[in-house]
Amino acid sequence: MTAELVDTARLLVASGKGLLAMDESNSTCDRRFAEVGIPQTAEFRQRYRTLLITTPELGEAISGAILSDETIRQSAPDGRPFVSLLADRGMVPGIKVDRGTHALALHPGETVTEGLDVLGDRLREYATLGARFAKWRAVLAIGDGLPSLAAIAVNAHALARYAALCQACGIVPIVEPEVLMTGNHSSARSGAATETVLRAVFAALVEQEVALEAMILKPNMVLAGSDWPSEATAEMVATETLSCLLRTVPAVVAGVAFLSGGQSGPRAAERLDAINRRRSLHSSRAPWPLVFSFARAIQHPGLQIWQGDDANVAAAQAAVRHRALCSHAAIHGRYDDAMEGEAS
Ligand code: 13P
Repeated sequence: MTAELVDTARLLVASGKGLLAMDESNSTCDRRFAEVGIPQTAEFRQRYRTLLITTPELGEAISGAILSDETIRQSAPDGRPFVSLLADRGMVPGIKVDRGTHALALHPGETVTEGLDVLGDRLREYATLGARFAKWRAVLAIGDGLPSLAAIAVNAHALARYAALCQACGIVPIVEPEVLMTGNHSSARSGAATETVLRAVFAALVEQEVALEAMILKPNMVLAGSDWPSEATAEMVATETLSCLLRTVPAVVAGVAFLSGGQSGPRAAERLDAINRRRSLHSSRAPWPLVFSFARAIQHPGLQIWQGDDANVAAAQAAVRHRALCSHAAIHGRYDDAMEGEAS
């Protein structure tokens, strides 16, 4: 069983491609639709997900796509199931299985991610629907005294129990402990918080006997908060992110797939590119593939262009394809600003 899981994990992260997160819950998807005036219905969500999956040549940049509970059961308007459409395009279907963040008792401003109840049954059903990997996102905020030890402990424990259940059901877990970019903190603070969180997450994973070679870590990059007055260069982000990972992530982990966390597409690509360029230097010693698992940084421009109108599908798909190709180039240290110019 572990050998098969290792093969799937490698297919996802060691093929020189990244992941497309298109697993927004219905409420998050509706909120993004509302921002651009798109009707918030199951039909429009289906049309949007069809647009994403059928983007021409997406499979050249994307190894797997993370679906939501609604999407994994849906088909394109012509009746072809999304899971088959992905497989036909060389992309592995995955599923988001957490049930979102809930206020953490006695800890104002902090959350715990829920969804462990009957998770084994749900994972077995998702496997029959075609999912070969899964995702669970924990969220840690930086603030006055935050993240608390309590928030780190409960979220690390839940991530580890989720990962163990996934592997027991033949599914590769993506373990996502996101330290949020929101706030007015320095990159050093983000690095320290991310380091503490990752240490706790790996301690919990080891305690639950999760096979680390058959899992993927989905971390944040080490970035100053969104309200911090100055912005670090991509090289500084790369240095701080790699040192944080080198101190905390065991070498045997199958791969690291960064979330975008609210960065623009070009920023996320530029920084992933810098991380991979630095990685290729002898001194970096990073042993894992360093790829992306972006949602907003790939989807955002296409969603803005689409506006829910069939007449805009081709232009929206061109924007999605462009962001996917830029992110893909960043895995290989081949991204540069000129690629953005080509698109416009
Ligand atoms: P972003 O890339 O928009 O941060 O989303 C990644 C993700 O899947 C969050 O769980």
